[in-house]
Amino acid sequence: MVPLIKHLAVGWWLAMLAGATMGAEGPRERISINDGWRFTKGDPEGVRSETLLYDVRPVASGDDQRERPAEATADAAKLAAATDRVLKQWILPTGNPFIKDQAKHFTRPDGDPGGDVAFAQTGFDDSGWRAVGLPHDWAIEGPFNSGGVGGSMGRLPSPGIGWYRRKLDIPAGDAGKSIFLDVDGAMSHTVVWVNGKLAGGWPYGYNSWRLDLTPHLVPGGKNQLAIRLDNPPDFSRWYPGAGIYRNVWLAKTRPVHVGHWGTYLTTPEVSATQAAVKLRVTVDNDSMQAVTASVATEMFAANAGGAPTGAAVAKIAPQEIRIDAGVNATASGSAVITQPALWGPPPGQGPDRYVAVTTISHEGKIVDRYETRFGIRKLEFKPDGLFVNGTRVRIKGVNQHPDLGALGAAFNVRAAERQLEILREMGCNAIRMAHNPPAPELLELTDRMGFLVVDEVFDAWVRQKTPFDFHLIFGDWHEQDLRAMLRRDRNHPSVILWSVGNEVGEQYTGEDGGKVARELVAIAHDEEPTRPATASMNFAKADSPFAAELEVISLNYQGEGIRDTPEFEGFKGIRTGPLYGKFREKFPDRMIVSSESAAALSTRGEYLFPVAPAISNPVREGRGGDPKSHQVSAYELYAADFGSSADKVFAAQDRHPFVAGEFVWSGWDYLGEPTPYYSSRSSYFGIIDLAGFRKDRFYLYQSRWRPDLPVAHILPHWTWPGRAGQVTPVHVFTSGDEAELFLNGRSLGRKKKGEYEYRLRWDEVIYEPGELKAVAYKAGKPWATDEVRTTGEPARLKLEADRTAIRADGNDLSFVTVTVSDKDGLIAPHADQRVHFEIEGPGEIVATDNGDPTSLESFQTRDRKAFHGLCLAIVRGKAGPPGEIKLTATADALSTGTTIITASR
Ligand code: GAL
Repeated sequence: MVPLIKHLAVGWWLAMLAGATMGAEGPRERISINDGWRFTKGDPEGVRSETLLYDVRPVASGDDQRERPAEATADAAKLAAATDRVLKQWILPTGNPFIKDQAKHFTRPDGDPGGDVAFAQTGFDDSGWRAVGLPHDWAIEGPFNSGGVGGSMGRLPSPGIGWYRRKLDIPAGDAGKSIFLDVDGAMSHTVVWVNGKLAGGWPYGYNSWRLDLTPHLVPGGKNQLAIRLDNPPDFSRWYPGAGIYRNVWLAKTRPVHVGHWGTYLTTPEVSATQAAVKLRVTVDNDSMQAVTASVATEMFAANAGGAPTGAAVAKIAPQEIRIDAGVNATASGSAVITQPALWGPPPGQGPDRYVAVTTISHEGKIVDRYETRFGIRKLEFKPDGLFVNGTRVRIKGVNQHPDLGALGAAFNVRAAERQLEILREMGCNAIRMAHNPPAPELLELTDRMGFLVVDEVFDAWVRQKTPFDFHLIFGDWHEQDLRAMLRRDRNHPSVILWSVGNEVGEQYTGEDGGKVARELVAIAHDEEPTRPATASMNFAKADSPFAAELEVISLNYQGEGIRDTPEFEGFKGIRTGPLYGKFREKFPDRMIVSSESAAALSTRGEYLFPVAPAISNPVREGRGGDPKSHQVSAYELYAADFGSSADKVFAAQDRHPFVAGEFVWSGWDYLGEPTPYYSSRSSYFGIIDLAGFRKDRFYLYQSRWRPDLPVAHILPHWTWPGRAGQVTPVHVFTSGDEAELFLNGRSLGRKKKGEYEYRLRWDEVIYEPGELKAVAYKAGKPWATDEVRTTGEPARLKLEADRTAIRADGNDLSFVTVTVSDKDGLIAPHADQRVHFEIEGPGEIVATDNGDPTSLESFQTRDRKAFHGLCLAIVRGKAGPPGEIKLTATADALSTGTTIITASR
């Protein structure tokens, strides 16, 4: 039994003694409080922000020009001397439930710092503040280049202070209930005041957390929430977003209730005929009396949305537990599900799910009902790869950062689903959450769609990567943040691995680094022993104390070799040949995976000449990179200095068939980290650009990852005024094994892929306008074709919505692609017209984009230049009456395009 340091709900207990029955609203409520917020940036005039700091900060300045941070020498923060009171002693107690050793729990000091600040007070008039809904990212609206934020953080104003206020209407009938604020994510250093009293907070911006509001709320009227966020400068290596960027909930329970993330479900035995399901339920007793509660669970098959269907397929008989006042207790039970429908990644398997419905009863009345969705699957991490339900599943994965492109960090289910859909179309089956716990809804999507997930918690430990990153609070918070992620995410069948860190500075150290790794792996095991724990290394030494601690070996870039080509001779930083062999020798029993592969670079639609003959090349000025336009060639042969082209990675993987697979850096482009041109806003790493348009590489991965899909893809486009008579190499990506290329009907030869070759190249083609056609063959039989033609002048705008029916709920989105085409409807590959959007009906344009990493135009304009013939408008259905939304796009000298989207309830 673990004592809960919390309030004791007297009212409810008295009501129970008096034999009151449950309220009509049911035993537990989870209320979205995303609407009705007021927001402002900065502290009130006259208030010294130093007095509201979470903690003292180091003396440091941003440095955007640094070498790759992971290679930079780590350096302990030099903290400024505390000249003011800081708030951390009042915040730390919020994390107590995640500190195992009771003796280390924090006690809130006396006093109520910040209570005297106008913005925190109940009576403050916030009607002049901006009305916002959550999830909200204050930085995405820009402007770019304000406040000296560099390219690595996306040139958007995420650093700074933001305040959010909202009234909470707490009816008198809530007296005696336990009431919690559940924040899925707020960036960062959150401090919460309730009715002017400091209630707690959480510094790490990527985690979800709960605050017990009960002691601070006054039922029977309006209560005031005031939340302050504070992002230091230079606190991230990518665009982190800013604000309350995920959902926020009010959870109301009876005093005896399932605790926060209080169920833990595992499937220790799985076969086709039956599965053993174990469930542990932690029940909190917030009342003043010891109680005996009964815990019972029924399990149901889940429908696609995760809701229980049909009759129960298994039950755990009611179990009585005694829970003393103010503490919790756990009930453990197990059940057998016969003929289970297993969870596994498509296409070979299906993501079937179940729901456990747990009820807590007290004195014959149901006081809580709690649903736990789960999947039944068996995972095995073997030296020769990952086995799911007994079958080897090759990891065809990508890394994804949390932003949603033009929508910023503000989480939106449909935008995330679209990312996954496009990745799925490519054949991707796995996502590494780089480098932080994702929005909870994203894991719901990966469960439902059957993606395998590496859930990762930190990008830095004790050693820094940027002057104000997590290392500043690692000492105080690593246990709480790690346990919070594990507890929140442990029931998701999609999560297969816990990653406790990415390329942390501790890899470079000896026993010191091993010690921190050991502690984190031990915490992961203690909390959730069914998945192995790993950490990703870009400076991996098979005999390092760090590597020894990892249960799965996760290599970043080193499997295929880093800077192992002659041009890097004499380079002082990380330089190594392929390391799979060394790690196999040292760790014959461990699974090895490439947790980051490639780091290839390209800009969609930009083909630069001449084209490098090698299969993988660093970007150099005039060789793959254009020093003027700051674009990178789309021939898909270029990579960051430490990276490799897709082709080189495939070859390394095929030469080492025991490797479990790869997670490409990165699936989609993301905001920030625009290697190699830091004047830009977004990355060049993605297989898919920031707007969601497929780069040529998409078809290279699709050809490999979906070998049964007939794919043939020609690059480049074939509209090259001025190149007549010049060498214009043509490459073909295909899932076949050979292809013949025709230019204006003439064969340019039939080529076959050799061993460790993944593209077919015709590097000597002399350009002439007309038609290029590739006919691909597989095992000698025609398999797939592709054609590109020289196009005429841009003439038309064509609009295509990814969904023409959306919900009128203020959240659902339709992504509308605008194509600039010639009069025959062929995309005009150089078109860069400015497109203007108008919208009618119950919808709004929330953002526009074109995937150009160098564009510093606001995402929120209704005007967007086409980029290589494409741009995007993101349309949201307004909450309210249904209707038809008409989106119109116009551009000078082009015929207008329209599309209709139906919004319904
Ligand atoms: C890795 C790092 C990623 C990203 C990537 C591309 O070393 O883990 O976060 O920085 O390189 O630059």
